[in-house]
Amino acid sequence: MMTNMRYLFLALAIIISLHYILSFSHEAYGRATSISNIKDHITGSQNRIPPYKIPIPEEYYAHPDAGSSQGRKANAAIVMLARNGDLNGVISSMKQMEDRVNKKFHYPYVFLNDEPFSDDFKTRVSEITDSKVQFGLIPNDHWNQPAWVNETKATESRNDMVKNNVIYGGSVPYRNMCRFNSGFFYQHELLKPYKYYWSMYSNIDMVHACIYLSFPHRPDIKFFCDLDYDPFLIMQDQNKVYGFTVSLYEYEATIPTLWNAVKSFIEKYPNLVSPDNAMAFLSDDGGETYNRCHFWSNFEIGDLDLWRGEAYSKFFEHLDEQGGFYYERWGDAPVHSIGAALFAKKEQIHFFNDIGYRHEPFQHCPQGDAHKKGKCWCDSAQNFGRHLPYNGKTGR
Ligand SMILES: *[C@@H]1O[C@H](CO)[C@@H](O)[C@H](O)[C@H]1NC(C)=O
Repeated sequence: MMTNMRYLFLALAIIISLHYILSFSHEAYGRATSISNIKDHITGSQNRIPPYKIPIPEEYYAHPDAGSSQGRKANAAIVMLARNGDLNGVISSMKQMEDRVNKKFHYPYVFLNDEPFSDDFKTRVSEITDSKVQFGLIPNDHWNQPAWVNETKATESRNDMVKNNVIYGGSVPYRNMCRFNSGFFYQHELLKPYKYYWSMYSNIDMVHACIYLSFPHRPDIKFFCDLDYDPFLIMQDQNKVYGFTVSLYEYEATIPTLWNAVKSFIEKYPNLVSPDNAMAFLSDDGGETYNRCHFWSNFEIGDLDLWRGEAYSKFFEHLDEQGGFYYERWGDAPVHSIGAALFAKKEQIHFFNDIGYRHEPFQHCPQGDAHKKGKCWCDSAQNFGRHLPYNGKTGR
């Protein structure tokens, strides 16, 4: 009974968030494409081209003889936060990443851990790929709860959350991870040389971190589709800074004061907010309240410079000062999503339709032409909100 109710809520949450994805990504594309799209945009016509039908130009595809598309690569790495105990999930996720995507492009991997990786972990992970693999240790002060946090208050909050069955409500390591992903991963020494990253996660403790639904989940991820074009080059050439496949609602109990902190930041630094921002993704009332929509941070392709820039750095600092990562349980998914929506331009946020991806129990199965020539093995009917019409929401 309880399980059924949970699924019902999940279904609702997904339908509603899909509505946002569709209207939002539609908006973003409408601006970036042709005159006729812009005209449709103005007239509110329903005949707009859905984003997944706008083809990726031929030159981005890998050709068997060339090895990578156009013989060039972006300055990018695949990043994975993992622990020694996650090895089997890591291997399975990474093998799929190699088979479906990275064998064609040979992007390097960076693994990060708050404890040293074991020799066994390093050996097995390195055997899966012929790309460069690096293993990094997270500095203590990027991971652990800072000394200025009032531990009495933090303990009280964790106890309350445990009482109220908030997922990971009692966990300090979980909070450390959310804070690390929010404000520190992009500062890691091993990521300094890179501009773009693709984050991959494998472990439920680390991963499910930042979403609230307590489902029977498994630690592995699945890539459903061959990706034959280089997603990093799309990011680079089209000046995108944040890419996603799924969006969801955040659990209110984990972020009671987050939006107040966001509003006080905007008041303090109005000039840091992008004039062409995606506030409409975050708020249905012009910024007064947060609708709790966020991009699913278990899948992200992004520009590290978005996080390293002045606006987001100040934003993270401002949030961190409030202590909400420990006095509440702020997740990196809403923090990244709010950051991307406020500091990037709307059209710099990219919906990767063609990347079929599942992390239990959520999945994105590409629609349309992506299925041709045996590239995908998921059922395109098994996707959130396939039948939802685009409702003409302008995203303002
Ligand atoms: C720490 O938090 C507790 C509980 O909220 C509060 O009573 C106490 O005054 C706080 N200590 C400091 C130093 O602010």
